[in-house]
Parts: sequence; C-alpha cells; structure tokens
Amino acid sequence: MRTPLVAGNWKMYKTSGESASFVKEFLPLVSGVKGVEIVLAPPFPSLPLVASLTAGSNVGVASQNVHFAAEGAYTGEVSPAMVKEAGAGYAIIGHSERRLYFAETDDNVGRKVAAALAAGLVPILCVGETLDEREAGKTFDVAGRQLRAGLAGVDSPRAARVVVAYEPVWAIGTGRTATPAQAQEVHAFLRGILAELWGRGAAEAVRILYGGSVKSENIADLMAQADIDGALVGGASLKPASFAGIVKFK
Ligand code: PGA
Repeated sequence: MRTPLVAGNWKMYKTSGESASFVKEFLPLVSGVKGVEIVLAPPFPSLPLVASLTAGSNVGVASQNVHFAAEGAYTGEVSPAMVKEAGAGYAIIGHSERRLYFAETDDNVGRKVAAALAAGLVPILCVGETLDEREAGKTFDVAGRQLRAGLAGVDSPRAARVVVAYEPVWAIGTGRTATPAQAQEVHAFLRGILAELWGRGAAEAVRILYGGSVKSENIADLMAQADIDGALVGGASLKPASFAGIVKFK
C-alpha cells in the first residue's frame, strides 16, 4: 500500500512572515489528517522557519530545488546537505519551470536526484510534456525520457524512497487539468518504466503524484485512479483552507 503524498509548491511566493502566518493557520486544519503525507515547499529563505514551525507535526518540508554538488563555487546555489540541515525531508527536482527558465537539463536533474538521495532527502522528481509535445504525440517519449534520465543514478535499494511527479506543462497554472484518464494513462506508463528498471515490487512501492491545476474540486477523481498516489499543488497550496481542502480529499 502506498501512502498518498500531497505537496504544496509555493514557488516564489511568500516572505518568511507570510510563510509563518500560513503555517499557523494550516496546522490546526490538518492536525487530524491520517494516512496522507503532507509536505510544504517554501522558498529557501523561509524553509528553516517553516521546518521549525512544523516540527513534531504531521507536515513535512521540501526544498524547491537543490544543487548536485556537495559544496563548491556555485554562486546562488544550495546543496542537498544544506537543505537537509535546514529541516527539509524532501526536495522537488526538475520542475518544468526550472527546466524552462533555468536551463535545467535531463542530465543535471539525474545528478540532483542522486545527490538528494545521498544526502538523505526524498527527491520528488518532476516529469511532463509541453502542449506542443502532447499534440505531436510525444507525451510518452518525453515523460519516459525524463524519468529514465532523472533516475539514471538511482540503484534499486533506494528506489522506494523516490517520489515521481507527473506534471503536464500545459496543465500547470492554466486551470486546465489533465483528465483523470489522461493522467492515469501516463502514470501507468511511468510505473511500467520503474518496473523495467527495478522490478515490479519496487515499482509498486513508488508514489507517483499528479500535478497541474489540482484543486479541492478535482483531487478526489484524480486520487481514485489506480496509479495516482498524490498531488503536487502550486496555486491552490497558497491559501491554508484551499490546501487543507485538497489534503482532506478522502
Ligand atoms: P499549479 O502548479 O497547481 O498552479 O498548476 C503545479 C506545479 O507547478 O507544481
């Protein structure tokens, strides 16, 4: 049985003060939630604060990125160990906005996933096609290529710790969600690749999240699909009541 995971990706929203207000309002709303892993991914400056405010609660913390090196002359970057020490348990890696605006390559994403695992973080590896790629019939090629490259440095004993997020780029921030059937088709395909890489048992243990315009109105239908094990939520994770509504999808 895979424990569902619902993560809120705040992107470049919320100062530390705003992050603290969110957490104070959010924790009581979800304190009774059982059987769902809840994660918040604040911007780097508020990560230690969010981690300390959520310590001992049922809410975990993720970074939105990490660098692949342990340390070095990489101005503006943050290492997995730094993120871990700041209190994060997870790291979002390879988000489409990083691939698009910050020239993140498949190869870099693979190195980051391996580095995150080595530092004891749970990587949330994002994959997904653009609208042009979907319309050109390349959805499976693109998502499959990104998944294989992202996992190139992962050996099977570590497999179960990896989380995958399928996020069709055309559904991110557009209000245009993939239908549950469209998402399930890709999730099943991705799980097939995991089985090919690590065997069926390991593949069955990996959570595959869906992301792209998830809200409280559509989460239940998505979660009803056999291979959808949670959600990576952007816009609808910015307000405590809205994100709590998604976390309480059952
Ligand atoms: P959205 O973003 O929920 O605002 O579509 C999802 C994401 O980018 O992870």
